[in-house]
Amino acid sequence: MPVISKYAVMGNPVSHSLSPRIHQMFAQQCDIALEYSAIEVAEDAFLSAVTQFRDEGGKGLNITVPFKQQAWQLADHRSSRAELAGAVNTLKFDEEESIYGDNTDGIGMLRDITGNLAKQVGGAKILVIGAGGAVRGVLGPLLEMQPSLLHIANRTSAKARDLAVVFGKFGPCTASGLDELGGVSYDIVINGTAASLQGEVPDLPVKIFNHETLAYDMMYSKEPTPFMRWASENGVTHCSDGLGMLVEQAAESFYIWHGIKPDTKPVLQALR
Ligand code: ATR
Repeated sequence: MPVISKYAVMGNPVSHSLSPRIHQMFAQQCDIALEYSAIEVAEDAFLSAVTQFRDEGGKGLNITVPFKQQAWQLADHRSSRAELAGAVNTLKFDEEESIYGDNTDGIGMLRDITGNLAKQVGGAKILVIGAGGAVRGVLGPLLEMQPSLLHIANRTSAKARDLAVVFGKFGPCTASGLDELGGVSYDIVINGTAASLQGEVPDLPVKIFNHETLAYDMMYSKEPTPFMRWASENGVTHCSDGLGMLVEQAAESFYIWHGIKPDTKPVLQALR
């Protein structure tokens, strides 16, 4: 009997997570036997849940809201992209008892935008809306592609400015409040706020769009997100949710655990 390795995603809520399906599809594709479950963890029980999972033979975890910062603290060593993101979405339990933490969200979004959606990031003018944990995770990989400008705009402008100070050393990074936008249009507009979760759209001027803009929401849902609907109502023809990002970040986690890069296209197709 082959030994079946155990993996899981931990979060709260997590019952609707697509990660178990995605990882099973990757595993089938690569002929790997694994178990991948979704574990809902009480807000104050993250550390004990990880310890229990590991004691029961778990090999790795994906971590989602609200535990990414706690996972960052828990990791004994981290990739440089996780270090910069201040958050970890992938834990790997090494043989020698140590815990490795990585963050695959940024590279996942980048692969979705440049690969699946065929939009160039190098040289592009990018607007990122929001300044929370989700945004912090994607700024490093975006700047690595050398956009001509990356502007961060947030409802609370001070938080955007703080991020621009931290990330300004990696490329041309500026910041403002939402109410200061308007004079410039962007090649890519990324919604990294939690507004879609509340069925809302950040208060934005339509002048941020031109007829070539990709409007990208890091959230995903069965229906187009409120941000995507608002963008299309205002003439944007190229809109995407973050389902591709979810699949691509999962593929990178799969690679960290198993050393094989799965083909994401059929998996994304199956989920759509
Ligand atoms: P996450 O870890 O998902 O990024 P977070 O750190 O709480 O969550 O950050 C949420 C982000 O969404 C913030 O940038 C927040 O703006 P503020 O910093 O001004 O609070 C943004 N956000 C949430 N709801 C919003 C709304 N209705 N309109 C605009 N921005 C919103």
